[in-house]
Amino acid sequence: MAQTWTPNSWRQKPIQQVPEYPDLAALEATEARLAKYPPLVFAGEARRLKSSLANVAEGRGFLLQGGDCAESFAEHGADTIRDFFRAFLQMAVVLTFGAQQPVVKVGRIAGQFAKPRSSNFEKQGDVTLPSYRGDIINGIEFTEEARVPNPERQIMAYRQSAATLNLLRAFAMGGYANLENVHQWMLGFVKDSPQAERYRKLADRISETMDFMKAIGITSENHPSLRETDFFTSHEALLLGYEQALTRVDSTSGDWYATSGHMIWIGDRTRQPDHAHIEYCRGIKNPLGLKCGPSLTGDGLLELIDLLNPANEAGRLTLICRFGHDKVAEHLPRLIRAVEREGKKVVWSCDPMHGNTITLNNYKTRPFERILSEVESFFQIHRAEGTHPGGIHIEMTGNDVTECTGGARALSGDDLADRYHTHCDPRLNADQALELAFLLAERMKGGRDEKKMVVNG
Ligand code: PEP
Ligand code: CO
Repeated sequence: MAQTWTPNSWRQKPIQQVPEYPDLAALEATEARLAKYPPLVFAGEARRLKSSLANVAEGRGFLLQGGDCAESFAEHGADTIRDFFRAFLQMAVVLTFGAQQPVVKVGRIAGQFAKPRSSNFEKQGDVTLPSYRGDIINGIEFTEEARVPNPERQIMAYRQSAATLNLLRAFAMGGYANLENVHQWMLGFVKDSPQAERYRKLADRISETMDFMKAIGITSENHPSLRETDFFTSHEALLLGYEQALTRVDSTSGDWYATSGHMIWIGDRTRQPDHAHIEYCRGIKNPLGLKCGPSLTGDGLLELIDLLNPANEAGRLTLICRFGHDKVAEHLPRLIRAVEREGKKVVWSCDPMHGNTITLNNYKTRPFERILSEVESFFQIHRAEGTHPGGIHIEMTGNDVTECTGGARALSGDDLADRYHTHCDPRLNADQALELAFLLAERMKGGRDEKKMVVNG
């Protein structure tokens, strides 16, 4: 591989999953416009995330990463963002309590627009059209016009990301995330769910602790960490022209950063070592995610690690494993052993969504029990290998959707039609997300107790 990297050196490489824009001059003009727009995030923030992830890689923390499969222009609104943020904070609080460790919060949000597709075409009846590739590229409507890639959509995605990020920053820093509000984060429809009582009890304990701390003089006024939280953004860096336009030199370090989001990841379909997506990602300094699916071998992974993290820096690389509930036991151990053998520093995260998608009543769905089962196996395998199960990567929403079956409300295949709103893959609703967080918290508590027994015994 050529050693010289530039923000556009990926253009010399083979590439998968590229849209065919009919008007290349218009595409170029759009990218030139974007290149003049302000960055969405700052290098210093990406560095802060990297150092939090370094702690996770070393076993001192847990990564919670989640959000939409695909953000959409249609669902852009304050209520959707607030409800997502609330559901996310609830999960984070449950996990912090379970793990008694810091939870690093990373949304799949404010930039998660471009989608890789298994097929270039979609067929409905007798009609075949190009696949929908995410709102940043074309429209979801099944018409010829909507499916034509339109560069103007990149400008819309950029503006939506800026507005979303603005609100998220306000929520994270402006008092909404204050731990004194822990009871108010309960969403309306979750209030009467089986998870509500568990959450209320936990919130009561936090409030009690806060009252005690207040009595001894520690308040959210004099301790910002009680009223503010670090919340980061992430997305799949799929549309490289857009990413390149937002790639900027950090004036402090002289390094290149993707300023489209704090963390970006490489999808399972675009991780060929000699191809464009790896080339782009190796040159920017942001924390990176790498999706690891069943086709990845131990040696293949080590080759990618050497390209993406040659200096073996903790926090640089998160391996997002997505095998499927019935395949994780077959594939995860060999990757862990390869990484351990070579002493590579990584965050191990579990994506229990993308290997567990099935079709039911013509809907793409995911059975909740398979999602739980993959997470359980992920934890067990890491315990057996002596490595740290460092995080989870999920598709979720704060809305009361019916996209994944199962969970405490036992959504069935027949319920899917009620509120199936996703633009791409099925997401956990807030109720299911909270249930998953409680399960995880129990597992993490189990791991902690085991470690204590080893130390004491
Ligand atoms: C995704 O995260 O939405 C996705 C497409 O994942 P993967 O690349 O793992 O299939
Ligand atoms: Co998805």
